[in-house]
Amino acid sequence: MSHGLEVRALTLDDIKDLHALDQDSFAEPWSRSLWKLELSRLHRIYLGAFKGIQLVGFIGGLLAHTDFHITTVATKKPHRCSGVGSLLLLQMLKEVDDLFEGIETITLEVRASNKPAQGLYRKFGFAPVGLRRGYYQADNEDAIIMTLENLQQGTLADRLSEIELKLPTAVYGDAKE
Ligand SMILES: CC(C)(COP(=O)(O)OP(=O)(O)OC[C@H]1O[C@@H](n2cnc3c(N)ncnc32)[C@H](O)[C@@H]1OP(=O)(O)O)[C@@H](O)C(=O)NCCC(=O)NCCS
Repeated sequence: MSHGLEVRALTLDDIKDLHALDQDSFAEPWSRSLWKLELSRLHRIYLGAFKGIQLVGFIGGLLAHTDFHITTVATKKPHRCSGVGSLLLLQMLKEVDDLFEGIETITLEVRASNKPAQGLYRKFGFAPVGLRRGYYQADNEDAIIMTLENLQQGTLADRLSEIELKLPTAVYGDAKE
C-alpha cells in the first residue's frame, strides 16, 4: 500500500471488474473467458491497482524466451494522469526482474496515435524500434514497437531505482476521484 493505492496480483475473483475496465478502456477488449484463461496461464504477470476495493488500473504481460512482452495496461478514466499507470509499470518491471532470469528485452506494441501511452513508456526508457503496419484490425492503425533493451543481469534493477527516484510524488499520491 502506498498512500491509498495498493498493487497486487489479479485473481479470478477480480474478473468482473477487470472485464468492465477493459471494456471501458479498449476498442477490442478481451472476453471474460479469455481473461479467465490468461489469469490461469504460466509465465504471465497480471497486476491490479486498487483504491480500497475499487480496481483503478491493471497491467499484464507474458514471458517469451528472453523477452517479456507487455500485452495490456489501462487506468480507469477518472484516475488517469495521477500516476497509476506509472506505479503499475514500475511494479510490473520489478516483478519481471525478480521472477525471471536472463531477460534481455521488454517489448510492447502501442497505437501510433496513442500519445499518453507512448509518454508512459518513454518515461521508463522504452524506445521505438519498428512499426507493424495495420496491426490493429478494427481500424487498421499501425502499431509502434517499443523496447527496453540490453537488460543484462542486474541492469534493470539499477534502471528502475533511477526511474523510481524521478517519479513525481503524484505516483504515490491519491488518484483523483
Ligand atoms: C496509457 C494509460 C495507461 C496511462 O495511464 P495513467 O495512469 O494516466 O499514467 P500516469 O498518470 O502514470 O502517466 C505516466 C506518463 O504517461 C504520459 N501521459 C499520461 N497521460 C497523458 C496524456 N493525457 N497526454 C500526454 N501524456 C500522457 C506522461 O508522459 C505521463 O508522465 P508525467 O505524469 O510525468 O507527465 C492511460 O491513458 C489509459 O488507460 N489509456 C487507455 C488504455 C491504453 O491506451 N493503454 C495503452 C495500450 S498500449
